[in-house]
Amino acid sequence: MAKKIRLGIIGGGGDSLIGVLHRVASHINDNYQIVGGVFNPVFEMNMEFAKEIDVPTNRIYKDFDTLIEEELKLPKEERMQVCSVLTPNFLHFPMAKKLLDNGFHVICEKPMTTTLEEAKILLEAHKKAGTVFAVTHTYTGYPMVRQMREMIKEGALGSIHKVDARYYQGWINTIIHDKEKRSSVWRLDPKKAGISSCMGDIGVHAFNLIEYTTGLQVKSLLCDFNYLYEDNQMDVDGTVLIRMGDHVKGVIRGSQVATGEENGLAIRIYGEKAAFVWEQERPNFLYKLSDTEPTQIYKPGHGYNSKLSLDGTKLPPGHPEGIFDSMANIYLGAARAIRGEDYNDGEFPTMLDGVRGLNFIEATVQSNKEGNVWVNME
Ligand SMILES: NC(=O)c1ccc[n+]([C@@H]2O[C@H](COP(=O)([O-])OP(=O)(O)OC[C@H]3O[C@@H](n4cnc5c(N)ncnc54)[C@H](O)[C@@H]3O)[C@@H](O)[C@H]2O)c1
Repeated sequence: MAKKIRLGIIGGGGDSLIGVLHRVASHINDNYQIVGGVFNPVFEMNMEFAKEIDVPTNRIYKDFDTLIEEELKLPKEERMQVCSVLTPNFLHFPMAKKLLDNGFHVICEKPMTTTLEEAKILLEAHKKAGTVFAVTHTYTGYPMVRQMREMIKEGALGSIHKVDARYYQGWINTIIHDKEKRSSVWRLDPKKAGISSCMGDIGVHAFNLIEYTTGLQVKSLLCDFNYLYEDNQMDVDGTVLIRMGDHVKGVIRGSQVATGEENGLAIRIYGEKAAFVWEQERPNFLYKLSDTEPTQIYKPGHGYNSKLSLDGTKLPPGHPEGIFDSMANIYLGAARAIRGEDYNDGEFPTMLDGVRGLNFIEATVQSNKEGNVWVNME
């Protein structure tokens, strides 16, 4: 058994949403050991949390800069090899940049940065560093999402003509209608979240899922945002028309005020021969629709699935695996890359996906701002 990869975690404290997903995912395939980090900007909370989850406190640092400084003093064979950046969005860029500049591998939450300009600077830093950079578009790790990608690549749908991705949540309803709350949540603060709430937080996942599964790129888009109060004009809802080719068109529908919706990410891809339908809340069922044959349901773990899909399941068919396993698959791909082993480029989203994400977010904001006009992506 190869030695475990030494992982540091920045953000993702006991008070966070995403920390537990990364911690559990990093352990699932036995590849990583969490050796330290900065879980929280308040040192006492940071230490308390480290004790709670049994991470040795000698490498829990008071802040990110101290982490870099102290880790660099350690011999290479003890030093953190990779750091996961799980902080609010505005901290991703400075932290990821400094990690790359100092030779660390990085696993970074989305959106990768808050501007396209920062994303491009990071891309240059990444080229210089030559280390591994994974962006956690979690949903690409699901076996049935991987199966869609592989079957589309092999021509199962024929030429694609329509794509419909939606990501509907309702949780901001509990915040947006309260003046005090809507002014204190970081996701609704452009200084901390970046220029978009709905598209930056969830629309970008739907966009990534489209490009990941179809292998096509969005070339231009037209966007219409909605916000509910004049004193907070961050988009909490939006509809985006997309063009991926002369006759390949579609729509991305995002909402954080879709009342009663939970984590409703879903994609429909229609081609000349067949269509795929997949929903995140029922991730183990991939529907293949046809005009001439009965609907087929693909499920994880069966021998009929692709190598990439099967690599993402650990138990025989019928043992449901979910979001923790999906994130674990991204960590597994990153581990292979860090160890210099062979891996499939569908195993984890990279820096290039991060740059595309920022290009998408900025294009939606520009389109909406200029009066719902078509905007070309780079
Ligand atoms: N991949 C996904 O599906 C997914 C899902 C949810 C969130 N996210 C992303 O994860 C990131 C975090 O989101 P969240 O919902 O967990 O946020 P959160 O507000 O719940 O948690 C943020 C954590 O970062 C810590 N933190 C803040 N400033 C820090 C600093 N200077 N140093 C160290 N720690 C610091 C906070 O103490 C907290 O523990 C965001 O970028 C978000 O977009 C991704």
